[in-house]
Amino acid sequence: MPRRIIIDCDPGIDDSVALSMALYNKAFDVVAVTAVEGNVPAEMATINVQTVIEQLDPPRLPRIGAATSNDNSDYRDACFIHGGDGLGEVGFVTVDHHQRHASEKIICDEVRAAPGEIDIVCLGPLTNVARAIQRDPHFIENVGQIVMMGGSFNGIGNITQTAEFNIHCDPESAREVFHAPVKKTLIPLDITSQVQFSLSLMGLLPPESNAIGRFLHQVVPYLFRSYHQQLGLETIQIHDAIALLQLLEPDLFELESMTADVEIKGELTRGMTIFEKRCGRNAPHNLEVARVVDVSAARQAVFRYLNI
Ligand code: RIB
Ligand code: CA
Repeated sequence: MPRRIIIDCDPGIDDSVALSMALYNKAFDVVAVTAVEGNVPAEMATINVQTVIEQLDPPRLPRIGAATSNDNSDYRDACFIHGGDGLGEVGFVTVDHHQRHASEKIICDEVRAAPGEIDIVCLGPLTNVARAIQRDPHFIENVGQIVMMGGSFNGIGNITQTAEFNIHCDPESAREVFHAPVKKTLIPLDITSQVQFSLSLMGLLPPESNAIGRFLHQVVPYLFRSYHQQLGLETIQIHDAIALLQLLEPDLFELESMTADVEIKGELTRGMTIFEKRCGRNAPHNLEVARVVDVSAARQAVFRYLNI
């Protein structure tokens, strides 16, 4: 029985790789792909979700949710990594689907229609899930579980010294989701950034004769350029693909039940994820956190799922 999921994302090149792993995979029934403001502003995130789905042309078309701006006054995008259009400046032309529904509405509608059956995979900021919690008092009891790429266990950020990008985009929403009484799994930056990909990745993508290969051969090269020019790295990290892998190959990860929260005030620490690391504290655990990943097996698994 395929696992029914909603992928909430902010494409973004690594989001697009994760979608490429998910949309053709018979292990998943991707009920919806909902856009969230993050790597790119809301309107662009919505168009990019449409673009990626049109380019990948999956056998089962998911519903699409439209992003709306988050209320975070210090939100900043990540176009410096993903390109001015968020998809490697390839210049895709997308047919704009007129009938749009807000991402949080789609999330609430689909979860309400199938209580306990649908998991939410969050590959961007947690704005939409927080809004779904606020919109529908029964959402939390009806949703399956929430799997999130975000945060940093060791306290080293990527968008600031202390904050990981997805959490930093909307710390208030992240705090609300962290405290929601539902099974949650967090795949933090410490884990996803261990799985690095060299240029040899390009030779291991599917052939350009198929939709996934054609799409990824166009968008992924930009990531190598931006990681080199912006971060001085010769390899890239595909954070969202590793987060999605936790659903497909859970044995490649070691999870630890923890107590976690999100800093929403600190001048230097806003968006930082805080984990109770002191011994002998009996605060209730609210998250399963990935603490170890089998790096080489995870890298091989990404290649396998892209060539499915
Ligand atoms: O910090 C990495 C995360 O932020 C990834 O989800 C990437 O796509 C960006 O959204
Ligand atoms: Ca993302």
